[in-house]
Parts: sequence; structure tokens; C-alpha cells
Amino acid sequence: MMQEVILPDLEATHNWAREFAKTLHAPVVVALHGDLGMGKSEIARTIIRTLRGENTVVPSPTFTIVQNYDGISHFDLYRITDASELTEVGLPYAIQNDITLIEWPDVADGILPKDTIHIYISSCGADCCPNGRKITIK
Ligand SMILES: Nc1ncnc2c1ncn2[C@@H]1O[C@H](COP(=O)(O)OP(=O)(O)O)[C@@H](O)[C@H]1O
Ligand SMILES: [Mg+2]
Repeated sequence: MMQEVILPDLEATHNWAREFAKTLHAPVVVALHGDLGMGKSEIARTIIRTLRGENTVVPSPTFTIVQNYDGISHFDLYRITDASELTEVGLPYAIQNDITLIEWPDVADGILPKDTIHIYISSCGADCCPNGRKITIK
């Protein structure tokens, strides 16, 4: 199953992510694909705030690799170069138990469950708004 959604601006991204968040029940894995600045963290932050409170502070996990929010685990695997490091950062445990949101998920491909929700974010091109994004959900 594949779905495409156009998000013309940041507000559209927030609105979409808020509705998407309400469909998530642990354990579930959401893999957020897309280049730097495409909005992976915006989507993760909106999901976390929708489910854990609008005032939740959601720092980027770029340096810590993972941030936990009482049953939601937010990973950024950019700095992980070898899949053998994933156990150390708690990814297998999170996958079994949590709502697990993963930025830069490619290195974890081998251990992601079959029913992982993959979200591909790209800029939506010349025929779209300047800040538009296109997301493809698989
Ligand atoms: N339609 C949009 N959807 C998501 N982000 C957008 C959009 N338009 C502009 N932006 C901006 O793009 C940036 C996305 O940053 P971020 O979420 O940190 O990206 P990533 O985590 O993919 O590197 C933010 O500064 C955000 O304000
Ligand atoms: Mg990010």
C-alpha cells in the first residue's frame, strides 16, 4: 500500500503529522527518510507533542542518538555507521515496545519489522509551493 500527500507549507506538515500521530499505537516503527532539512524532525516533534503534550521539549537526537518520551523513542541514526551499534543505543528494545520514530533509518534496515511505516519526504518540485513537501507513505 502506498499513499502520496502534498504538504504545501509547514502548517500543512504539522496538520498532517498531528492526524498521523493519532493512528499510532505501540509497538510501531516509523522510518523517516529524506535529505537534510526536508522535515523529518518536524514530523517527529509534532508526533511527540501530539501524543505527549504540546509543551514537550523535543531536542534533536543528532548527538544523543536517541531521546525517550515515556514509550516513544526518537532516534537519529545519522552518526551510526555500523548496524552492530544499534543494540547499544537500544533500538531492538524500542522496536519491541515503543512508538519508535527513526531519522536516517537506512543503517537499521536489516532489523526493521516488516510492518514498519516508511515515510519518504522530498521537496515537491517546481509545480508546487516554494516550501512544499511531498511525502510518500509505504
Ligand atoms: N512544508 C514543510 N514541511 C516541513 N518542513 C518545512 C516545510 N516548509 C519549510 N520547512 C522547514 O524545513 C526545515 C525542516 O527541518 P528538519 O525537520 O530539522 O529537517 P530534517 O530533520 O529532515 O533534517 C524546518 O526549518 C522547517 O521550518
Ligand atoms: Mg532531523
